[in-house]
Amino acid sequence: MDLCYISKIFLLAYIALQGTAAKNGLLYEYGNATDSLSKNEDYGSVAIKFTVNFPLFGNTYSSLYLCNKGLLTFTASYCVYATADFPIKGSVPFIAPFWADLYNVLSGDIYYRQSNDSTLLANVTKDINKYFPEVTFSAKWVFITTWDKVPRFPGAASQANTFQVVLATDGTSSFVLFNYAIIQWSFLAVAGLNSGNITGYYQLNKPKEISFNWTNSSNVNYPGRWAFKVDKSQPEGMYES
Ligand SMILES: *[C@@H]1O[C@H](CO)[C@@H](O)[C@H](O)[C@H]1NC(C)=O
Ligand SMILES: *[C@@H]1O[C@H](CO)[C@@H](O)[C@H](O)[C@H]1NC(C)=O
Ligand SMILES: *[C@@H]1O[C@H](CO)[C@@H](O)[C@H](O)[C@H]1NC(C)=O
Ligand SMILES: *[C@@H]1O[C@H](CO)[C@@H](O)[C@H](O)[C@H]1NC(C)=O
Ligand SMILES: *[C@@H]1O[C@H](CO)[C@@H](O)[C@H](O)[C@H]1NC(C)=O
Ligand SMILES: *[C@@H]1O[C@H](CO)[C@@H](O)[C@H](O)[C@H]1NC(C)=O
Repeated sequence: MDLCYISKIFLLAYIALQGTAAKNGLLYEYGNATDSLSKNEDYGSVAIKFTVNFPLFGNTYSSLYLCNKGLLTFTASYCVYATADFPIKGSVPFIAPFWADLYNVLSGDIYYRQSNDSTLLANVTKDINKYFPEVTFSAKWVFITTWDKVPRFPGAASQANTFQVVLATDGTSSFVLFNYAIIQWSFLAVAGLNSGNITGYYQLNKPKEISFNWTNSSNVNYPGRWAFKVDKSQPEGMYES
């Protein structure tokens, strides 16, 4: 059997696996993330101090609050599940990858970490350069939170979602990625960016929009992934494809 034949078999196997591989390839590595939110709290949030400042909505932040209901908030903790349409005027600035009544008390894990690991930075940089070719960007810092198989309240462990939010910056430009790998429920869930004033926001879906297909949606032509540039007062890059 010649080598060419063997490599053709591998090529065919690779093509056959693309469908599932694409889904697995959506998430950046998180299995050994440095921390996970407490499983004992229905409304749990943690404060995280950054090692690099993160420009967001025209300001710069050195910390955030991670709320298990699918929110990252800035300046103060805001940890509720109530979902409303954006813009939410007068709220704290927040990033909502999947804002809903997530319930990791029942099952699932929430992993988060900040990192300057060079392999990870190179990987995130490569993707962002693809989506924003007009921006010269090389990530110096990333923050990744992953909700891993988390059901809803009161819910059932068998109906669970896996998704991820990624923050990346070089200190000047900053980006947010949402990755929807497995979405088995979406009751009243809403996703987007809300600066807290009425001009800077973007909303992916309506809370009751059942036709919104999370794992198939994208603004960067990669099913399940959304990417935004977020350092200016208005988020950029929101063209659905
Ligand atoms: C790069 O990131 C993708 C997710 O976008 C992941 O599937 C892949 O394993 C990563 N590669 C490396 C070398 O870490
Ligand atoms: C976590 O790290 C340990 C030790 O390096 C390794 O054995 C394990 O496979 C890793 N788990 C995941 C989910 O990556
Ligand atoms: C990477 O992060 C570690 C931990 O915060 C820090 O000690 C180190 O200086 C950072 N390296 C670079 C190149 O920023
Ligand atoms: C997936 O997305 C593509 C491109 O937007 C669209 O044409 C297709 O109908 C979608 N499929 C489903 C099942 O929603
Ligand atoms: C979303 O779109 C994907 C790809 O077209 C499809 O496989 C999946 O069934 C759709 N999900 C829902 C809930 O319609
Ligand atoms: C919204 O916030 C941005 C950034 O802080 C600011 O430039 C803009 O003037 C604000 N708009 C309103 C209507 O407050």
